[in-house]
Order: sequence, then structure tokens, then C-alpha cells
Amino acid sequence: MSPIFLPAPTQEINSKIARCAGVDLYVLRLDLMHPWVNGNKWFKLKYNLLEAQQNNFTTLLTFGGAYSNHIYATAAAGNLFGFRTIGVIRGEESLPLNPTLRFAVQQGMQLVYLDRKMYRQRNTTDLHEYLQQRFGEVFIIPEGGSNLNGVRGCMEIVGGEAIAFDYICVACGTSTTLAGIALSLRKQQRILGFPVLKDGAFLAEEINSLLKNYHASGLPLPPNSLASWELMCDYHGGGYAKVNDELLLFKQQFSQEHDIPLDYVYTAKMFYGVMDLLHKGFFHKGDRLLLIHTGGLQGNLGIEERLKKVLS
Ligand SMILES: Cc1ncc(COP(=O)(O)O)c(C=O)c1O
Repeated sequence: MSPIFLPAPTQEINSKIARCAGVDLYVLRLDLMHPWVNGNKWFKLKYNLLEAQQNNFTTLLTFGGAYSNHIYATAAAGNLFGFRTIGVIRGEESLPLNPTLRFAVQQGMQLVYLDRKMYRQRNTTDLHEYLQQRFGEVFIIPEGGSNLNGVRGCMEIVGGEAIAFDYICVACGTSTTLAGIALSLRKQQRILGFPVLKDGAFLAEEINSLLKNYHASGLPLPPNSLASWELMCDYHGGGYAKVNDELLLFKQQFSQEHDIPLDYVYTAKMFYGVMDLLHKGFFHKGDRLLLIHTGGLQGNLGIEERLKKVLS
């Protein structure tokens, strides 16, 4: 299923703070793998699509907010690989559609809206049965692609070259990506996860449960793997999809200086966090860091549209 994807390049970040700290800084550009299905999204979708295909499903159904990177990528991946797609969207329909949902519809996705109360049932068998009755046999992928198939795919994010790095840094929403990366690395490597939601410490429980369930699942696992991981919870910038002035300025300056575009919701917060930790002397001389660019750039259109409205 992967030949349409370009390999993600690893790019050095030539930063003064890193040089002063004696730290080598690299970014894995998953955002460059494909124009629409990129970042961690493809990795979370891959084994879900394979399972759907192997079980002869022709329709994928998934869940997300109106600006969701996962909805965007599922619509495009479904179209590329010949599935019909249904996107169950949280909240009321708002017209005209925002750029994310407009794109999803262009890719052939059928949108269905659930009010917030009903949307909260998104992981329950009751709602799944209702959706199966309404739409027929559909292969259900959870919000964000956050299941064990998602974890399995994320084990493929950092290939063999990861051995050369002491730290892997990644933004966390559900932490499925962090869990997959942790399972693919060695014990002496460390992963720093940067939750993009407020009070992100609760994710530790989610990660432990994903890891436990993955171990119990019998799905493939490299021997002696499991890197140590830690959550850096102070870089949420006010909460999920919230941006403050400091973050706005950082994103703009960083992208200009290094020619690396960042998204407001995930990667800007993680990159900001890493730079702050460098300032604070968290890392040691000789440490090698790999920052994962998990994509999400499509979401900038929607956020910039909202920011323009606020400022006008
Ligand atoms: C661009 C981007 N980066 C990072 C993440 C966080 O991934 P996870 O939910 O697996 O923690 C997401 C959410 O899926 C995302 O869309």
C-alpha cells in the first residue's frame, strides 16, 4: 500500500541555541511524504486500511472535529486506495464548509454531524451499531486513528537510523504515535512527548494502557524494545488548538529561519518546547535529538481563517 509515498528526509536544524548547548538537532520530515496523506497520519491509517481491505470492507467510517487532520487524511487515503469514506463530525454543520471539510468532500467523503453529547459516545458499541444500521457494513476507525493498528503503524515511523539519536521528540494528542515509537526503539533511548492539551499528564495512563494492550495483542514486536518516555506538559500554549502570542511569533520566526513550516496545533508547540528545554540546559553536550514533524499543515488554513476573523 505504500509505493505512492516518498521517503521522509532527515534534515539538520542549524540552530544557534543547539550549537551553544553542544547538541545535534535533526527533524524527520514526515510532512513531505505525500501532499495530503502525510505526517503520523499515514502510519496510523496504514494497518487500519489493510485490515479493512483484507476483510472486504468497501467503506471506511471515522470520527473527528471540523478541523481534523485525521478526517482530511482519511478522506484522501480512502480516495487513493478505493474506499468509500464517511466522516462523523463533532458538532453542528457550519456553512460554508471550512477548508478541511471542503477538501474531505472533494475527496468524496460523506459528512455526518453528531451533536456533542452524541459524539461523546463515539467509542461505544451502541453508537457503532446505530451507524452500522444507518450506513451498512462499514469499517470503523476510531478518532485520530488511535487503536492498536495505529500503534503498529507508528512503530514504522523512525527507521534504523533512529539508533543514532539519544532523544526522539514528538507532539502528543492521544499519544498513539508516542506509544508506537516507544515500542520500536531501544531501552537506552528516550522519547519526550509534548502534550498539546492542558493538563496533559493524564496521557501517561493512556500510554501505559496502549503499551499494555499492544503487548497483550500478539501483534508484531521487535525484541527487547521499549524506549523510556517522559511527558513535557508545560508547552500546550493554553490548550488544544489554542495559540498565544509567544507561540505565534515562534512559529513565524522558526519557519522563516529554518525553512521548515510548522502547524499551530501540534508541531509548533513541540518545537517551541524543545527550544525552551535547550535554553534551560535540559540536554547534555553531545546529545543527538530527532524531532518528528508529524505534519498537520492543512490545519493552518482553518486557524488562519479564524485568526483573521478575530483580528478584523
Ligand atoms: C499533526 C499531528 N501531530 C501530532 C499528533 C498527535 O498524535 P497522537 O494523537 O498519536 O498523539 C496529531 C494527532 O493525530 C497530529 O495531527
